[in-house]
Amino acid sequence: MNREEALNSIEANVENRNLIKHMLATEAIMRALARHLGKDEEEWGLTGLVHDIDVELTGGDMNTHSKLGADLVGEMGASEDIVHAVLCHNEAHGVPRNTKLDKALFCADPLTGLITAAALVRPDKKLAGVELKSVRKRFKEKSFAAGVSREQIATCSELGLELEEFIELGLEAMKGIAPDLKL
Ligand SMILES: [Fe+2]
Repeated sequence: MNREEALNSIEANVENRNLIKHMLATEAIMRALARHLGKDEEEWGLTGLVHDIDVELTGGDMNTHSKLGADLVGEMGASEDIVHAVLCHNEAHGVPRNTKLDKALFCADPLTGLITAAALVRPDKKLAGVELKSVRKRFKEKSFAAGVSREQIATCSELGLELEEFIELGLEAMKGIAPDLKL
């Protein structure tokens, strides 16, 4: 599975543009994490890109979400590591996160939501003016983007990253694709 095939499959299976933007943002953060940790940037990026491919197909049912996605990307020829990371990013299945790739997807996924929300509350609704300190402040504000699991973001520690450097890495990664995110 290459990036083009992944994008074609996403276009075929996902209508919600915000969901697609979430997957692109997750891809960008995963690529940045791979660079930071000396891992395979293509593989990590692809994992982020496809991780929610089944959300509409499963109708948001957490009992099937990510199982179907793992099957789909496996059929597309994704590596076993990608398939496993996609599968275990939904905790409902009780599948342990074993690899760095598993752990990276798990913490990158909610960080996109926090950073997107931090941009959308600005008058210009743009990422460019979002500063690290404001995202850090928002992280501590539990009522802000309340659906975003701070605990899950904080599992970046399992990759050896401090929360602050993880947020900074994610923010810079998303700024790097701001036009694609329409932010
Ligand atoms: Fe996600």
